[in-house]
Amino acid sequence: MAAQNLLLCLTKEQTDFTEENFFGCLLKLRRENVLEKYVIRGGRRLSGEIEVSGAKNAAVALIPAVLLCDEPCVLENVPDISDVSISLRIMYEMGAKVEYLDKTTVRISAEGLKNFCVPYESARRMRASYYFLGALLGRFSKARVSMPGGCPLGDRPIDQHLKAFSALGAKCNIEYGMVDLYAEHLRGSQIYLDVVSVGATMNAMLAAVRADGLTVIENAAKEPHIVDLANFLNSMGADIMGAGTDVIKIRGVKNLHGTTYSVVPDQIEAGTFMVAAAATGGDVLIKNVIPKHLEPITSKLRKIGVNVDEYDDSVRVWVDGPLVRTNIKTMPHPGFPTDMQPQMATLLTLAEGTSIVTEGVWEQRFRYVDELRRMGADISVDGKVAVIEGTGKLTGAPVKACDLRAGAALIIAGLAAKGITEIEDIYHIERGYGNLVEKLRKVGADIQKVTSPVATMREAVSG
Ligand code: UD1
Repeated sequence: MAAQNLLLCLTKEQTDFTEENFFGCLLKLRRENVLEKYVIRGGRRLSGEIEVSGAKNAAVALIPAVLLCDEPCVLENVPDISDVSISLRIMYEMGAKVEYLDKTTVRISAEGLKNFCVPYESARRMRASYYFLGALLGRFSKARVSMPGGCPLGDRPIDQHLKAFSALGAKCNIEYGMVDLYAEHLRGSQIYLDVVSVGATMNAMLAAVRADGLTVIENAAKEPHIVDLANFLNSMGADIMGAGTDVIKIRGVKNLHGTTYSVVPDQIEAGTFMVAAAATGGDVLIKNVIPKHLEPITSKLRKIGVNVDEYDDSVRVWVDGPLVRTNIKTMPHPGFPTDMQPQMATLLTLAEGTSIVTEGVWEQRFRYVDELRRMGADISVDGKVAVIEGTGKLTGAPVKACDLRAGAALIIAGLAAKGITEIEDIYHIERGYGNLVEKLRKVGADIQKVTSPVATMREAVSG
C-alpha cells in the first residue's frame, strides 16, 4: 500500500487510530513474513516523459520545521515515500494534526503542541529524525530525541549538530540512547562547522531561527535542500540570508506563522532517472526539475558521451553513441553528489575503458559493489576508491539492496542488464523513491513489484 494511502487512512479516522491502520501497514508485510521485491526484465530502451517528485532530503526537514510555529502549514509537492510517512507519523504521535489534502499536499498543524520527546521506536527508523532535535529546541528550548538510525554508510556522528546547539546556549547530554537538549535561553551565536554537514547546517538553522539575536553559520553546506529550508522558514516569517553559500546569517524572530510552500524537486531522483535513461541507451524527458541543481550530474554525463538538453524545468537525456570512461570524486554541493555515486558507478560499468570513482563523503559507500559483481561488473575497491573496468554489459541476477542509493543503482543495472534481475530488501528503495514502478513502466521499463511469502521463496530456492 502506498505510504500516502496510509496517511489518508490515518486522517479519515484520526479518532480510532491504531498501529494497524497507519504506519503498521507498512511494517505489517514484513511482520507477516512477506517478501517484497522488484523483478526487472532488462534490455529495454527507456523513452518518453517522467515526472520528478519533491525532494526527500528537503521534505524530511520541512516537516519537523512546522513545529516552530503554532499555526497550520500546507506543504505541496510532498513525495510519497516512507521517510515522509515516518516524519508525519512522528508529528502525529507528538500531537500534531496531519491531513492529506490531495496526493501530494499535506496540512500539518502543531498548534498547542506540548510534547518535546521523540522516542526510540519512531526515531530509529530514519536518520533524518535528527531534525526534530533542532526544531523542538527552537520551539521549546528543550528536546529529547532518540539517537537517529539511517542508511549504513559508515560512521555517522552528530557532533557538529551538538556543537551548533551548544553554541546557541543549549546543554547537550546523551544517555541511554537519547539525546537531551536544554537551554535556559537560546541566544544567537557564531557557529563554525568543522566539517561541511548538511544535517548540522539545517539543524543549526532550525534551532537559531527563534533565538535572540544574530546567528552566523560558517562553513555551511550549500545543497539545494538547505536553500529550500531557508525559503520555507522565511515564508513563515524567519529572517535567514545567505543559504546556498557557506555563510548563513539568521536574525532570530519572536514568532513564526503558518504558510503554504512547495517542496523543491528532488535532484537525486532526477539524477537517477537521467542515469537510467543513459544506461538503457534511451531518450527521456525528465520533468519538474531545476536544471541548475543537476549541473554536476549533467556535466559528468556529457563527459561519458550522453546528450543532455536543458529546458526551463526539464531535461532531455538521450544517447546516440558509445559511452566512454571518466573519473568521479564525490564532494559536498556543488561537487558531484555522493547520493549519485552508486548510480553513476553502475553506468560506468557499461562504458568503454577504466573509470575511477572516489568517495569523498562517506566511509562505506561501496557495499553495493558485491551485488553489481553478481551481475557481471568488473569493479575493485580499495577503501574509498573503486576502479571500474567497463565491460559494456551486465546480466540479470538475484541481488539485495543494502541501502537506498545502492538500491537505485541495482534498479539501473537491472534495467540495462540482459535477462531478469530480482531485487530484494526494496524497503530501502521505498524510503526515497515514490511510485517508482509506475514511473519507470510509463517510460517503457519492464519492472514489477512482486509480493510473496518468505516460506514459498525459500521452498522455491531449496527445491
Ligand atoms: C545528508 C543526506 C544524505 C547525503 C549526505 C551528504 C539527508 C536526510 N541525508 O546526510 O542523503 O548522503 O547529506 O550529502 O539529508 N559529519 C560529522 N559530524 C557531524 C555530521 C556529519 O563528522 O556531526 C560527517 C559525516 O560523517 C560525513 C560528512 O560529515 O562524512 C557529511 O555528512 P552530512 O552532510 O551531515 O550528512 P547527513 O546530513 O547525515
